Order: sequence, then C-alpha cells, then structure tokens
Amino acid sequence: MTRADLHPMISRSAFRLMAAGALVAATLALGGCGVRLDMHVQPKYTPLRESNFFSDHRSARPLVEGTVARGQLEADTYLYTGMINGKPGTDFPFPVTEQVMERGRERFNVYCAPCHGRTGDGNGIVVQRGFKAPPSYHIDRLRNAPVGHFYDVISNGFGAMADYSSQIPVKDRWAIIAYIRALQFSQDAKASDLPPGTKISSNPPNVNLPGSEPHDITPDGITPTNVAGGNVAK
Ligand code: HEC
Repeated sequence: MTRADLHPMISRSAFRLMAAGALVAATLALGGCGVRLDMHVQPKYTPLRESNFFSDHRSARPLVEGTVARGQLEADTYLYTGMINGKPGTDFPFPVTEQVMERGRERFNVYCAPCHGRTGDGNGIVVQRGFKAPPSYHIDRLRNAPVGHFYDVISNGFGAMADYSSQIPVKDRWAIIAYIRALQFSQDAKASDLPPGTKISSNPPNVNLPGSEPHDITPDGITPTNVAGGNVAK
C-alpha cells in the first residue's frame, strides 16, 4: 500500500466520525426541549414524598430491624434505665464531679424547682398556685430511695407528675439526681458535717429568687415583693 492509497481511507473514516458526532450533538440539543437531566433537575424523593414504586406508596422505607443510628447505641443499660435486674440501682453510672453538680443544680432549678421548690420541699411556685403538692424530698422514704428510683420518676413520670424524658437528656437526669442528693444532705446535715470554722446562719436563705442573699422571709417563705411580678395569691 502506498501513502496515496491510505489517504482516502483515513479521510473517509474521519468524515464518518465527524458525522456521528454532529448527530449526537443534534440529538442532545433537540432533547433539551423535552427530557433534559441537568443537575438542577434531580430525580430524588424529598422527605415523606409519595412513591408508586413501593406497594405502601411511601418513599421513606422502614428501618431494617436492629438498625442503630450513630451515637444511639444504648449499650449501657444502667445509664439509660437506672435499673439493675428490674430493680432501681443505688449507684451513679458515671463519676459525680463538681461540674456534674453545677449542671444538676442549674437543670433542677429550671425543670423541677417550679413544683418541688428550690430546696426540694415540694412547695414550688406552681404548687402555690394550685397544682398538686409533691412529697418533700426530705421525708425518710425519699431520703432512702435509691438513685434509680429518681431516674425512673424523671424518665417515666410518677402519678400526677409527667415524665421529662423528652426535655431532659439522660446525663442531665443523673446530674439533677446528684443535686437532689446534695439538697437532701443540706437539709439533714449536722453541724459536725460542715468543714471546721464554717459559720452557720440562723436565717434560712431565701431560695425563691435566683442568686438572692439570705434575708428576712415570712413564715411561709414567700412575700409578694420577693417574687417576680409580685402578685402571689395568699
Ligand atoms: C409540674 C410540677 C412538677 C414538676 C415540674 C416536677 N415534678 Fe416531680 N412531682 C410532682 C408531683 C405532683 C408529684 C407527686 C405525684 C403523685 O404522687 O401523684 C411528684 C413526685 C416526684 C417524686 C416522688 C416520687 C415518689 O416516690 O413519691 C420525685 C422523686 C420527683 N417528683 C422528681 C422530680 C424531678 C427530678 C423533677 C425535675 C426533673 C420533677 N420531679 C419535676 C410534680 C412535679
């Protein structure tokens, strides 16, 4: 074969290639008017969208049995239930540090004090306005109740008290219980339990106001002026 023979062959196949390319381009351009799948048209299901593919017409599929989402493996059953063999446990599932105590105090004052009172005497502001009075935390039964019982009450409710499982995360529940233990101790401590040299005030602190200093309070612990808003029914 000479070069002259080769030439027409090459140019013929090159021409066919060009023709095919033009056809593809034309098809794409025409197709653009109808079904064009660019990135701004994404064939996907948005949450809860209907589907004709599945017999139940739901695009969202049920989780495969036993699926555990990241961070939701509740392997530490005591942490999540407060129960050991169906009985309320007596220990905390993690060390109670000063930080845990601080968190517990803060959360207790947000979620529990409105009914249970800042000292846990069961005379919170909601109770003063007519809600059923809870028992004081300072009765023997609750002083001796295991921490697992408190965890159960917060998580599942108790009688007239609703549960707080959706409002209070698991570790915060335990922090609150640690603080309740401190409250119980505070109302039941002997002078000899205090660090040497600690002065004991004869006035009880006014626990109805955040950050309030000890000062004179009425026998029922509340005056119209020491409550925000000031209009307490007497
Ligand atoms: C809306 C008011 C209210 C709030 C808020 C509330 N409680 Fe109660 N709690 C009650 C009442 C009322 C009872 C008594 C229920 C009964 O005996 O029917 C009770 C009972 C209890 C008991 C005693 C259970 C027993 O064995 O007798 C504990 C412990 C307790 N609550 C803990 C808490 C903790 C901890 C919080 C905060 C996370 C909290 N409660 C928030 C109203 C409340």
